[in-house]
Amino acid sequence: MRIFITGVAGFLGSHLADRMLQLGHEVIGNDNFIGGYRDNINPNIEFHEVDCMDLAKMRELTKGCDIIYHCASTAYEGLSVFSPHLVCTNTYQITMSMLSAAIQNKVKRFVYCSSMARYGYQPVYPFTEDMDPKPIDPYGIAKRAAEITIENMARVHKFEYAIAVPHNIIGARQKYDDPFRNVASIMINLMLQGRQPIIYGDGMQMRNFSFVGDCIDCLERMAFQDNVNGEIINIGPDDEFVTINQLAATLGKILNFDVKPMYVADRPMEVKHASCSADKARKLLNYKPQMTLEAGLIDMIDYIRKRGVLPFEYHLEVEIQNEFTPRTWADRLF
Ligand SMILES: NC(=O)c1ccc[n+]([C@@H]2O[C@H](COP(=O)([O-])OP(=O)(O)OC[C@H]3O[C@@H](n4cnc5c(N)ncnc54)[C@H](O)[C@@H]3O)[C@@H](O)[C@H]2O)c1
Repeated sequence: MRIFITGVAGFLGSHLADRMLQLGHEVIGNDNFIGGYRDNINPNIEFHEVDCMDLAKMRELTKGCDIIYHCASTAYEGLSVFSPHLVCTNTYQITMSMLSAAIQNKVKRFVYCSSMARYGYQPVYPFTEDMDPKPIDPYGIAKRAAEITIENMARVHKFEYAIAVPHNIIGARQKYDDPFRNVASIMINLMLQGRQPIIYGDGMQMRNFSFVGDCIDCLERMAFQDNVNGEIINIGPDDEFVTINQLAATLGKILNFDVKPMYVADRPMEVKHASCSADKARKLLNYKPQMTLEAGLIDMIDYIRKRGVLPFEYHLEVEIQNEFTPRTWADRLF
């Protein structure tokens, strides 16, 4: 099959490209390098450095494709409260461009990477797919709006789709010099530089982390299995919850680093408890995670050590600078 992957220089997109090539598919992809790394790109794919917003180009490149994996996004939940224009353009608007191209070219299935941010505040957790989404920041709202539009367009134009809701993925190739997201990567990059982790609020935010290989297994099935057409599915474990403080402590133990975190004010609109049920993924995708959190973190540390620690790059504009802007960004603490 001919598979198109947006954001193919990114973390998930690049691993997905490797998997699709291993399965014998032809892979074509694009990226505009607002994120990701050039060395993430598998040399055996057909790569185009072009923005998803370029509809004419997307229409041309997706011609003859069987499946589109739409992974591109500026996946910055916290930053979206301060850079809504940047984040929503590269979350909602680019999805409209990809959808339009996909429909025009009669692409069989559209696999969309949504986000747990779609859930927002919920009275109970873990979050299940049948809950009413209540996103609380522009990124989550843009992801949910994209999901609704995909469902809506599929009703009219009769294409297949599947929506993945991954959460907190870890592993090699995640951007680790990005001060705006990826808590585990940021902590590793800091600790390998002999610097203390910086934690928002009291560090008691609960999360669970999933290893990239386990997520790719699910994404693969979401493109090819009949039983997931039209489904929204959480992707990630629901049994190894950790607080951000515990994450820092675990990294300290692995790296033999004496952790004394620097605590800064809460980040506005950060959800305290975020965990998703994996029941539907187990049922429909035979989801069985293979990696523990500790093994996943070790894999990430190996990658960052090999590639080399990097100074943090403030590569995105913080559009709104006021008294609510986190100090980490306003004062460039990382
Ligand atoms: N990594 C996670 O923990 C996680 C969790 C939930 C959801 N997701 C979703 O999965 C997808 C992939 O996430 P990731 O972690 O690989 O992110 P990533 O930042 O590593 O990859 C995204 C890629 O998209 C590219 N991109 C962004 N806007 C673009 C545009 N307009 N045109 C072309 N390329 C563009 C970036 O340059 C980047 O390389 C995203 O949609 C994200 O919202 C990821």
